[in-house]
Amino acid sequence: MGQKAIRENTLFYGDNLTVMQEYIADESVDLIYLDPPFNSNRNYNVLYKDESGLDSTAQVVAFEDTWHWNLEYTENEFQVLVRHGDELGQLLQTLVNIIGRNQMTAYLVMMSSRLLELHRILKPTGSLYLHCDPTASHYLKIVLDMIFEAKHFRNEIVWCYTGGGRPANDFAKKHDIILRYNKSNKIVFNADSIRVEYNSDMSKRTSPKSWGSHKGSDKIYQPNPKGKIPEDWWIMSPVNSQAKERLGYPTQKPLTLLERIIKASSNEGDVVMDPFCGCGTTIHAAQSLGRTWIGIDITYLAISLIKNRLHGAYEIKAGKDYDLIGEPTTMQGAEYLAQQDRYQFQWWALGLLPARPYGAKGKSKRGKKGKDTGIDGIMTFSEGKGKDKQIIVQVKSGKVSSRDIRDLNGTVDREPHAVMGIFVTLQPATHDMKLEAMAIGQYHWQAFDRYYPKMQILTIEQLLHGEVVKRPGVLTTMKQAEREIISEAMQDELL
Ligand SMILES: C[S@@+](CC[C@H](N)C(=O)[O-])C[C@H]1O[C@@H](n2cnc3c(N)ncnc32)[C@H](O)[C@@H]1O
Repeated sequence: MGQKAIRENTLFYGDNLTVMQEYIADESVDLIYLDPPFNSNRNYNVLYKDESGLDSTAQVVAFEDTWHWNLEYTENEFQVLVRHGDELGQLLQTLVNIIGRNQMTAYLVMMSSRLLELHRILKPTGSLYLHCDPTASHYLKIVLDMIFEAKHFRNEIVWCYTGGGRPANDFAKKHDIILRYNKSNKIVFNADSIRVEYNSDMSKRTSPKSWGSHKGSDKIYQPNPKGKIPEDWWIMSPVNSQAKERLGYPTQKPLTLLERIIKASSNEGDVVMDPFCGCGTTIHAAQSLGRTWIGIDITYLAISLIKNRLHGAYEIKAGKDYDLIGEPTTMQGAEYLAQQDRYQFQWWALGLLPARPYGAKGKSKRGKKGKDTGIDGIMTFSEGKGKDKQIIVQVKSGKVSSRDIRDLNGTVDREPHAVMGIFVTLQPATHDMKLEAMAIGQYHWQAFDRYYPKMQILTIEQLLHGEVVKRPGVLTTMKQAEREIISEAMQDELL
């Protein structure tokens, strides 16, 4: 299939199946990590931290982790897979015969089509890590055995963690499963990049007599001075409520986990891909380890968080430092998106700034609309000496008037850390709106003795033409990026 050419480091908004079919060439990816929704039958809400570091009550539904067998999509996909007549088709047909057309088999059909594509795009020396949990891991392993062949199964990694939420009548479910497969016997495995210290008992054994010997031979197990290769069970902290890297995205995985996988199964410059990239943990880790990356997600919330994350951590921007494919680039595209889904539109618009999505818009678990706080996004900057200030962003796709500007100004005045407001509108701003914004006056950034308009109006058209927000220094756009950007000490020095 003739794929469209892509540049190094590309983020895609869209369904990963279509993206892979249209853009990703055969045998072009070195490492794939995927963390698909698990069929755990619940909606995942995004929680945001407020400035005090506490979880704010604002929640947005990020994605629905429920699969249904629908005639339009699942039945069609299923028939295509079965018609192939190979082992995978037979397996799916058998499962459907035994357990029926239900959520689990719908999930497996969805996963099978994607795993087939992932196998196609993986290089012969490539590895795939599929992150799942006991809900579906047993079925997914058979599917993977069919596609990758059982002989290419390498590990079932068990990621163990602790945390709240313990059932009364079961052992606490505190592990995930990561299935590791290779495409052939020629593999990349950088043992020396991931070694860890031996346990203290082993480190104390210094004489050859205390080392074990290989069964039936005189060969001695000598500890490697660089440490041991980790076992296939990993104890790593999840991204808990206090973690610095926490973005509030449900199911966000820790950077340490991705760093180990990337170091083990790829080399610098290799292509690492995450087709269900969520808030971009794989991308963040790949960027820091000098790998080329490809990320795909089907919500603008995820894309917008990733844009903000990369900007905060590495000061890199979509369009300039990496490609972003699948988002509107014209007014017509923006209008279409707004008509289709105004929340997706809102998240996309926030990504243009980029601002961190925030807010109670969106549906709650019961499908009811959340309370509107008047805040859609937040940008943060430092006043020095540990003081963070906020810029409140509001996005509108419908009719706008000067009343919207007064309301936003009211929100800025109400929020304890807010000092400025940005009003983003799809419709052109009226003359009255501009007058209202001007009358609000200026914000004085004391740290650098500079003045900025306290209220700014930006149209989508202006943002698409590259217009940027006039605001105090880049500095802290995200909490987790703090250690990678200008430090407080440097700011004081500058002052
Ligand atoms: C479990 S989360 C991934 C979390 C990620 N590992 C992280 O650390 O943030 C799964 C993601 O897959 C995305 N997703 C679900 N179906 C998709 C599809 N067909 N194509 C692309 N992304 C999809 C969801 O929007 C969600 O962000």
